Amino acid sequence: MTLPTAELADGMPACDFTVVGATGDLALRKLLPALYHREVEEQLAPATRVIGVSRSELDDAGYRTEVRRAVEKHVVDVDEVALERLLARLHHLTLDAATPDGWSHLHDLVVGTPGERVRVFYLAVAPALFGPICRRLQQVGVVDETARVVMEKPIGTDLASARAVNDAVGEVFDEHQVFRIDHYLGKESVQNLLVTRFANTFLEPLWNSRWVDHVQITVSETLGVGERGDYYDHAGALRDMVQNHLLQLLCLVAMEPPTYVGRETVRDEKLKVLQALKPMTPDDVDRDTVRGRYGQGLVDGVAVPSYTEELGRPGSATETFVALRAEVQNWRWAGVPFYLRTGKRMDRKLSEIVVVFKEPPHRMFPHAEGQQSANRLHIQVQPDEGMKLHMTAKEPGPGGIRLRPVSLDLSYATAFDVRMPDAYERLLMDVIRGNPTLFMRRDEVEAAWTWVEPILQRWAVTPDRPKRYPAGTSGPTAAATLIERDDRTWQESDLD
Ligand code: BG6
Repeated sequence: MTLPTAELADGMPACDFTVVGATGDLALRKLLPALYHREVEEQLAPATRVIGVSRSELDDAGYRTEVRRAVEKHVVDVDEVALERLLARLHHLTLDAATPDGWSHLHDLVVGTPGERVRVFYLAVAPALFGPICRRLQQVGVVDETARVVMEKPIGTDLASARAVNDAVGEVFDEHQVFRIDHYLGKESVQNLLVTRFANTFLEPLWNSRWVDHVQITVSETLGVGERGDYYDHAGALRDMVQNHLLQLLCLVAMEPPTYVGRETVRDEKLKVLQALKPMTPDDVDRDTVRGRYGQGLVDGVAVPSYTEELGRPGSATETFVALRAEVQNWRWAGVPFYLRTGKRMDRKLSEIVVVFKEPPHRMFPHAEGQQSANRLHIQVQPDEGMKLHMTAKEPGPGGIRLRPVSLDLSYATAFDVRMPDAYERLLMDVIRGNPTLFMRRDEVEAAWTWVEPILQRWAVTPDRPKRYPAGTSGPTAAATLIERDDRTWQESDLD
């Protein structure tokens, strides 16, 4: 595919960036602030426009006011000059994305303006609309070979529905034009995981079943479901977090080194990991998965309602917490469990990967005071991005040997004195550049659903309901039992 010769800023082609769902939460809280930050860095080509499409009865000026308000709310220390530059790029089209009317106006705006621009269509709307909107874009003639469509998860609610969405979108856009966002892949610390593994030599020889005892991946949040109850109650933590973010993290930990980091090579390797996940039988699901749901409790000292109270649906059986034990069946990882857990209304907001190494093969300090413990590498994805390698050291001083745990710390904030960009900043620029490396390919999404589906199916027929955990805690006790059964424990981060 040839990129247009349109003006480039920092290698970026000029672009018509259409956001369908332009006044929604995602657009105003994430996408426009991300574009603002890139505007500050002068990364958007001068001819680039942002076309907001929504049902709101707004003209361009009205939309600019909305966006100004959103940027001022979500950005500290707004650069007024950059904000004005961004606002000047904005246009608004009032139309209901769920109906066929009014799309010809988009054609007039996009095709009717002279000059070559990459066309981006960001669908910040309900997934049920992905297929129909793509068809409408095609019908009004705005899909050319530079066009890209961007979709947020959830892509489907199971394998069949994911395939149906992918088929519908695929009738209009070639796979290389489809950008499926998993915003975890845009996080700096997640990208750094690849660099840490593959731009250094010291870890790779240890990164396998010979030296690694197990891996833990935790994504815990303090927020509840809030305004997203309608969506969340049909999704639950397995679909909302595990099928995508947690499995993507697992892939980056477990994947083989690609020959180089390129648009398909990384995705090829991640796909192989997903395909190597040991399929769960119904017995495996009963033994190796735990679902939980938050009850009332205290989060950061504030009393919060239970999930069902927050939702107003006492009968809901949706899980807000999942813990599970997975295995990657390949040469490198045979026999190494990967424990995953995620939940809402937990005791803290933390996304972290912990690689726990094996104990030294021989105990050399039998009479030492203190304990020798296994090495652990904590990779903190957020907040306070960084890494910590836990080791055992000798406490200084005469007399016998006293063993003490110490850690080698890398804090991003101190190593790099820069603002940590939001994941969307990187991802949106990659869409405009046409670089799909950090986006999920169709086969990856479907492989993830293939693995998750037996869990959903088993849960649907078992009479058990999610186990209750008080809000503000680390989840149901069954999650602790899941890992303790293997003589291991969840490693609580002490990076802060
Ligand atoms: C989203 C989920 O994909 O990720 C949300 O739908 C969740 O339920 C969010 O809160 C977490 O993202 P982050 O970047 O805050 O960890």
